[in-house]
Amino acid sequence: MNNWEKMYRNGDTHWDKGEPSPGLLEWLGNASFVEGSSILVPGCGFGHDVRALARAGFKAVGLDVAPSAVFGAREQTPAGFSGVEFREGDFLKDEPFDGFDYIFEHTCFCAIDPSERDVYAASVAQWLNPDGFLLAIHYMLPPDEDGPPFGTNREEIVRRFSRRFDLITDWEPSSWEHRQGQEQMFLWSKKV
Ligand SMILES: C[S@@+](CC[C@H](N)C(=O)[O-])C[C@H]1O[C@@H](n2cnc3c(N)ncnc32)[C@H](O)[C@@H]1O
Repeated sequence: MNNWEKMYRNGDTHWDKGEPSPGLLEWLGNASFVEGSSILVPGCGFGHDVRALARAGFKAVGLDVAPSAVFGAREQTPAGFSGVEFREGDFLKDEPFDGFDYIFEHTCFCAIDPSERDVYAASVAQWLNPDGFLLAIHYMLPPDEDGPPFGTNREEIVRRFSRRFDLITDWEPSSWEHRQGQEQMFLWSKKV
């Protein structure tokens, strides 16, 4: 059993806010995207962001390595709710079961061991369609070894992702009060 599954089984889901990320909701309110675009949310937890994306018109898939997270995400999805699917799997190790138009990153990058960050960037490229986009909210805690969450900074994000993606724009998103000023949102397109 992986450590994440142990935490879910122990009821330790302190990261779960019970609602979608404010930065994602802000983006959904302003962004233009093709209705019905597919989007993958790796490390989806209980799926609040996945359901928000589906409500906005995406065909959204949540992926999580912890079976209890997937179970909880399905359980918290009202009957008849359309446009969402939750699957158990390892974003870093599994062969993609599909290609996606978008990937939405929120608190998965900071959850994995920092030594796996280049693998993470390679996985994003692997799961995305050739003309796909990465929409990411990164937790800008000071880099440390005492995670998760493991911190990062803008310089590291740009360095790690620029090899495979072109940065369209980045900005400080709306956030929860206790995370104000600690998040940075990025929109990337996959390099051709
Ligand atoms: C800090 S939690 C965040 C969950 C959710 N994004 C949220 O904000 O509530 C990190 C999540 O990533 C999942 N996770 C960690 N490594 C993963 C991997 N390699 N593949 C898929 N999910 C992973 C964990 O099981 C956990 O649900």
